[in-house]
This record gives sequence, structure tokens and C-alpha cells, in this order.
Amino acid sequence: MAFDKTRKIVLTGASGNLGRFLAGELVKNHGNVVLTDLVDYPGTVPVGATFIRADVADADAVMSICEEAAVILHFGGISTEKTFETILPANIVGVVNIFEAARKNGARVVFASSNHTIGFHERGRMLDTDMPTRPDSFYGISKIFGENMGSVYFDKHGVESVHIRIGSALPEPLDERHLSTWLSLPDLFSMIVRSIEAERTDFATLWGASANTRTWWRNDDSERLGIVRADNSEIFADKVSGPTNDPITEKFQGGIFCGMDTVIR
Ligand SMILES: NC(=O)c1ccc[n+]([C@@H]2O[C@H](COP(=O)([O-])OP(=O)(O)OC[C@H]3O[C@@H](n4cnc5c(N)ncnc54)[C@H](O)[C@@H]3O)[C@@H](O)[C@H]2O)c1
Repeated sequence: MAFDKTRKIVLTGASGNLGRFLAGELVKNHGNVVLTDLVDYPGTVPVGATFIRADVADADAVMSICEEAAVILHFGGISTEKTFETILPANIVGVVNIFEAARKNGARVVFASSNHTIGFHERGRMLDTDMPTRPDSFYGISKIFGENMGSVYFDKHGVESVHIRIGSALPEPLDERHLSTWLSLPDLFSMIVRSIEAERTDFATLWGASANTRTWWRNDDSERLGIVRADNSEIFADKVSGPTNDPITEKFQGGIFCGMDTVIR
């Protein structure tokens, strides 16, 4: 469904690293932005946005915040590997609440998925988004769960969603792995803009990476959504740190997550 500018955009995880960046950019073009997070917004809330503190695991709070939303940008939750007990409410229950709110309000969801959905694929192997996932952590499993919620909610209820498998969204790549996984912040924002404004998305999956010469990823829904990447990590190739001494980290696309233990509680 075409984006209705009079309805609100909700951004979860607004107090986080990417959330703060997105909040600042969104208000430049949209007058109806609602920011939410488990913790207070650090500093001043951008002019033009309102902030509501809430836990995405709280179904009633999510439903109320998302009332009459056109788009929900779901960036809130645990953003690294933690115990399953920690991941469960924030990333599993939370994403169910988001998709339920989207269904009830006819909203589109843009989900911050992750490269850790495919982390145990070996480096150098070119992946398409429709190849089998290979999670490297409970965190990665939770992101696959979110993508699968999008798939079911589109097929069953017609809820549109875009799932961005973010690699390493940073101002600059820091290490050798990032030369393959880096997503510049401007490229992230242009993905968000197209995900909001595309006439229809159906169920879409994007590699959240810039046009990196050393990419491991190809064939996503970028063309269908009109997404063009402007940046390439290669210009930082002389600046980044070299490989680690850990053979597991170096073997797999998910890097350090592949060697982390999975702990239930
Ligand atoms: N930064 C990256 O390179 C990257 C890579 C892959 C995926 N992602 C995903 O993008 C999103 C944002 O990443 P980030 O780097 O800004 O992470 P971040 O940890 O800085 O931000 C996440 C935010 O979510 C909030 N949050 C945690 N639990 C919550 C809950 N139960 N209810 C409401 N809010 C909760 C936190 O308070 C935090 O502000 C995350 O979903 C992350 O998994 C990021």
C-alpha cells in the first residue's frame, strides 16, 4: 500500500546507535514520527518527534504506540548475543507484538535483521537471500524468527515487510571483515526511505551492506524496491585492522559470534 504521509512512522530502538541516527534523519522529511525504546532517549529528542518509553515485550504498550501507524521501523531489542532468557522477551515476543500491531493497523514493518542469520556460512561463499539461513547464535535465531514472522504475516494477512540483514552499520569499516559487511549510514537511510515509500514491498529481504567490492552477498530485493547503494568499503582498505588470531572468527561470515557459547540462562 502506498505510504500515507499523514499517518505516523514508529521507530523502536530509538535510543540505540542506529535508532538515534535514523531518528535525526526521519524528522527532516516526516512530521509524524514516534520514537520508542526501553531506555530514555539520550539527549534532546529531535524536534518534530515524540518519544514514548516502552518495552517491546509489552503487547499492550506496543499496540497503543502503533495505533494508526503507516510504518513501523523495528530496530529495538537485544543487538548482540545474550542468554536465551534475555533474547526471548525482547527479540521473540517483541517481534510478535510488532507484527500483531502492524496487522491490526494496516502498517508496513521494516525489520532490522542481521548477518548473524547466515553467520555460519563460510567467508567468500556468495549468498543469495533465498539460500538457507545458517545462524551463529540465539541472537541470529531471533532474527530468523523475525523474518519468518514477516513471511507468515504477509502470506496469511497481507502485512508488508522489508527485512534488512544488516552487516556492520558504522560510520567507517574498522576491520578486514567489515570490508565485506560494511553498511554506510547514508546507504542504510536510503534503504529505509525506499522501504517506507515503495508503492508495495510484499515480503522483501535486503542485504544490509553497501556496494562493497569484497561483498559475500547478492541477489536480494533491492532492484524491486528501487534501492541504489552509493558507498564502497574499499576506500578504507588501507586503514582497517588485519585478521584476528582466532580461526573460527576468520573462517565464517558471522565472525566472532561463531565462537561464542550459546547460553540458556
Ligand atoms: N549496528 C549494526 O551494525 C547492526 C547489525 C545487524 C543488526 N543490527 C540490528 O539493528 C538494530 C539496532 O542496532 P544498534 O546497533 O542500534 O543496537 P543498539 O543496542 O545500540 O540499540 C538497540 C536498542 O534497543 C533497545 N531495546 C533493547 N531491548 C528492548 C526492549 N525489550 N524493548 C524496547 N527497546 C529495547 C535498547 O535500549 C537500545 O536502545 C538492532 O535490532 C540490531 O540487532 C544492527
